[in-house]
Amino acid sequence: MSGSIPKPFIEDLVGRTDLVELIGSRVPLKKAGREFRACCPFHNEKTPSFWVSPDKGFYHCFGCGAHGTAIGFLMSYDHMSFVEAVEELAHRMGLDVPREGGNAPAAPRVDESLYALMARVAGFYQEQLSRDARAASYARKRGLTPQTLQTFGIGYAPDDWSEVLKRFGASDASREKLSAIGLIIAREKSDGWYDRFRDRLMFPIRDVRGRVIAFGGRVLDQGEPKYLNSPETELFHKGRELYGLYEVRQNRAPLRRLMIVEGYMDVVRLHQAGITYAVATLGTSTTPEHLRRAFRLISEIVFCFDGDRAGRDAAWRALQNALPEAKAGRELKFLFLPDGEDPDTLVGKEGRERFEARLNDALPLSEYLVTHLSTAIDIRHADGKARFVAEARPLLERVPAGPYRELLLERLAQAINLSGERFVAILSAMPGDSNRRANPANGNSESFGAQPDTSSRTAAQQRRITAARSGGRGSLVRQAVQNLLLFPAIAAQISQRDVEALAGIEEPGADLLHEMLVSLHEEPATSTAQVLERWRDHPAGARLAALAAAESIAPNAEAASNELRNALQRLARATTAAEIDALLAKDQAGGLDAAERERLKQLLTQSRDPA
Ligand code: CTP
Ligand code: MN
Repeated sequence: MSGSIPKPFIEDLVGRTDLVELIGSRVPLKKAGREFRACCPFHNEKTPSFWVSPDKGFYHCFGCGAHGTAIGFLMSYDHMSFVEAVEELAHRMGLDVPREGGNAPAAPRVDESLYALMARVAGFYQEQLSRDARAASYARKRGLTPQTLQTFGIGYAPDDWSEVLKRFGASDASREKLSAIGLIIAREKSDGWYDRFRDRLMFPIRDVRGRVIAFGGRVLDQGEPKYLNSPETELFHKGRELYGLYEVRQNRAPLRRLMIVEGYMDVVRLHQAGITYAVATLGTSTTPEHLRRAFRLISEIVFCFDGDRAGRDAAWRALQNALPEAKAGRELKFLFLPDGEDPDTLVGKEGRERFEARLNDALPLSEYLVTHLSTAIDIRHADGKARFVAEARPLLERVPAGPYRELLLERLAQAINLSGERFVAILSAMPGDSNRRANPANGNSESFGAQPDTSSRTAAQQRRITAARSGGRGSLVRQAVQNLLLFPAIAAQISQRDVEALAGIEEPGADLLHEMLVSLHEEPATSTAQVLERWRDHPAGARLAALAAAESIAPNAEAASNELRNALQRLARATTAAEIDALLAKDQAGGLDAAERERLKQLLTQSRDPA
């Protein structure tokens, strides 16, 4: 596995990206003063409330609240994952994305000309489809419209052993390339090569950027194998790719869920019917990697399986692979179609609305799990219950510790009429592999309760701190954070001493303000977008993004700098006052020791100094 992408690289990238050009190439922007505006691409509107600020490197919609940096825009608009968005921005600048921990070998650089060759062959197949009456008629018979053939780039590989070889493999070098991308195969007994795909309807498989990386080919009518797929190549790793994902992302409507189906035809016909969130795995069952990719885009995934035996087996395999990715906040559902139907035939018969209505009956993962186990096992008696627990145990162990696992455990216990505690007790008492990591009961180290408030502020302390908040304009800290976020360069004007003074302040958000100042002293930033990217994965990241979008009070960097310095002084004073109060109170109650008395004296003189 390669390491993570260094933060400074990401910040540099968003700092250098021309946000107006990036967004402007997708949404028509109009200049309005120093900013640009448009009708928001993320919701329907007639009057523009979408603003792009080139200075901040940030966009914001006053209508629907959408906001973010160049990376956020690609994630929302092009439905890219974070890493994909970074790669896209880097690609636009002709940069390679570095990875941390340089000793992990970087992914070998793929020869760009392989993509170009793939694209040319894909174009050739497409052209052949319009020329071959038999193939075109098969596509029609399968209900594919010309528009769909175009959208998915579907083509036809002619009935010939060397058509691709002849057209694209004139030299040794080009034959090596064709072989590297799986389009031709070396003959075993004699010298020479032959085309892998012959007389098949060709479905190109595309990567995030829409580049063809492989094909799936279906025989026309009868023949074996029904589907032939490209082998694993430098460009194509089938355990990772989802067929149709690129096409899903081409839709501008916000993505609400992904539906994972089994076949090429299923995806294509679902999209044609308007169900434009369908993807398929490529002749394998869903891998955890597939799911990780999908969950980077969206939190709801529905598996859709045929109602037959094979479909049910595939669903159970999918469930097992999905367990490591089951977490609170994610929805995983299972939809079973009537026996004898697949999404292709069913959506053809009943259309989008009725097909989508079936989604309401999809089983959540937990229900499917319980149903599956309790149909296989007679749970009315003690031995059945014991078996149920035994079967559930390895499955539960695949679920990461956390609230989701807790709830799943409760649900399983309920299914066999046991309390959660009894269930856990039986689970733990079961003889198990001694090498096993902790069982679910004690493996779960997360705490769910709210953190107890350990600070014991006196009422006076609290009053002082409250007084430090400037009425109506948000707390001092919030204002300071916002100023720093909108004008990160002003960090340079804050002295080291003022930064250190912040460290002890017990005001909500003061730790964040402190952290930001320290970080911006070490590594200055020039735009809001850079700061946001630095804090993207931080618990406060979302709050910062919201602050960036909120209306700013300071009109310019100078005003922001003054406000920030002023806020820091007031915060420091409020803290001093609170400490004095505490010491005075202690003095009255029981007396101070020498050190405390000294401290009090020091504070009292200090606070009398003009600030
Ligand atoms: N598949 C495959 N190799 C095969 C058969 C199937 O890779 N020999 C994969 C393909 O991705 C195919 C999926 O499994 O799309 C589902 O196969 P199947 O249900 O047999 O076919 P359908 O999708 O129903 O295809 P069609 O409607 O064209 O018969
Ligand atoms: Mn089918």
